[in-house]
Amino acid sequence: MAEAVAERARSVQGTKVELKYHLTPEELADYDAIVAGDPTYHHDMTSSMKKLFEEASVKNVSLEGKTGAAFGSYGWSGEAPKLLLEIMKEKFHMSIFKPPLLIKYTPDQAGLEECRQLGRKIAEKLMR
Ligand SMILES: Cc1cc2nc3c(=O)[nH]c(=O)nc-3n(C[C@H](O)[C@H](O)[C@H](O)COP(=O)(O)O)c2cc1C
Repeated sequence: MAEAVAERARSVQGTKVELKYHLTPEELADYDAIVAGDPTYHHDMTSSMKKLFEEASVKNVSLEGKTGAAFGSYGWSGEAPKLLLEIMKEKFHMSIFKPPLLIKYTPDQAGLEECRQLGRKIAEKLMR
């Protein structure tokens, strides 16, 4: 899903995309947009994603005004991307991109196309 989001975002002229699986809280501040992918386990975000944003908060990393979006695979309730958007908006005062993209279990071709469209829309928003 992340690769599909990144691939189409990258195709929008002027956009530079980095697909990261690990980054420090401070590195979040290096980007104009953060598109976070996280699957839902036990009605929650994964602990690594929670830790990333918790540490960013403790370290007063400023993300104010940046664009935030979220996506994730889920089985039946899909809380993780919704929680991510809430944290981005309420805690970090980011400009969030709604709705979050939820894909049930493994994305099929249509699901991957939804991911690509998310990447395109965010990149185009930034370019405006
Ligand atoms: C132990 C366990 C707990 C899960 N809890 C939830 C849940 O609370 N809500 C939900 O929507 N899906 C839940 N799921 C389903 C996963 O979100 C789903 O399998 C998803 O595709 C996993 O993505 P991943 O393969 O990228 O880790 C759970 C799956 C497992 C194995």
